[in-house]
Amino acid sequence: MLFPLVRPLIHSIDAERSHRLTVATLKRLPALPPPRPDPALAIRVAGLTFPNPVGLAAGFDKDAEVPAAMLGFGFGFVEVGTLTPRPQPGNPRPRLFRLGEDQAVINRMGFNNGGQPAALARLRGRRSGIVGVNIGANKDSADRVADYALGVTTMLAVADYLTVNISSPNTPGLRALQDPAALTALLDVVMEARGAGPPLFLKVAPDLEPADIDAIARLAIDRHVDALIVSNTTIGRPGLASRHAGEAGGLSGAPLRPLALQRLADFRAATGGALPLIAAGGIASAEHAYASIRTGASLVQLYTALVYEGPGLAKRIVAGLKDLIARDGFTSIEQAVGA
Ligand SMILES: Cc1cc2nc3c(=O)[nH]c(=O)nc-3n(C[C@H](O)[C@H](O)[C@H](O)COP(=O)(O)O)c2cc1C
Repeated sequence: MLFPLVRPLIHSIDAERSHRLTVATLKRLPALPPPRPDPALAIRVAGLTFPNPVGLAAGFDKDAEVPAAMLGFGFGFVEVGTLTPRPQPGNPRPRLFRLGEDQAVINRMGFNNGGQPAALARLRGRRSGIVGVNIGANKDSADRVADYALGVTTMLAVADYLTVNISSPNTPGLRALQDPAALTALLDVVMEARGAGPPLFLKVAPDLEPADIDAIARLAIDRHVDALIVSNTTIGRPGLASRHAGEAGGLSGAPLRPLALQRLADFRAATGGALPLIAAGGIASAEHAYASIRTGASLVQLYTALVYEGPGLAKRIVAGLKDLIARDGFTSIEQAVGA
């Protein structure tokens, strides 16, 4: 419960700087051992057994520098990335904004990362826990589909699962890969590249029309995608109060939650439970995580709430989920999915 005391200090520093300081500090400290898993909260998705359903969303540990530290904070899994084939600087700063009054963040980082080869080397020595690798295309790539194929073949040896991220609003034109014809071509290529490799997840935007949702759901099932992550940040600006509300980029955190939860329900309806779903968007409490699970998510992920709630959040959500399933008479979290 120390975090509320240091939060004003941390939040007095520029958002990107304080994030960099956080990662640098975590790198220097020894990682805590992951907490002892509770069998009632374990869940099997895409052939993997997750010790609990609460994951760290992509974007916090873009370069795979601190996955063990984050697992030590109680996350059931950590998604590193987005990683592109070649290193790239991302957009000019400032590009990350806290919206305190809204418990939100706007970012237009633009896939700043050190590239896949460096992350690959870092992940090679890794021991335990579930670490997914989120891949994307370089901004200046002449062939984006080829970038995804290369990302899959480069990273599959160190990934417990791979996420194909076609939903960042900060790489111009990237989200066009969600259009049915483009998505068909992309999925054919990445599934071929994956071969007998790890499960492959697809991460979608919340800013989709009903027709897109049906088409994406059908294609994902048809091409044997292993799970959908719903969702990335939104380009919408639903009723914000903060002075940074007008910044360009993707909005995450509390104001995203109603939209992300609606999209989760839409994808659950469109897939009829045929495809595991992973919820992301504004999840900040056990109640939020549980609502997503009851709506049909097998797993949840979060990032923005960490900025406001601090590193103890994952453990608090996991403990709260245990109480919530007991309250509703379930003996395992698996029974609550879509119930
Ligand atoms: C600063 C920041 C950077 C992000 N970078 C990525 C990224 O590189 N790749 C990605 O798939 N999602 C990225 N995201 C999106 C998150 O993974 C997540 O889908 C979204 O923020 C909604 O969850 P939240 O409201 O819990 O943050 C980023 C989010 C934030 C706030």
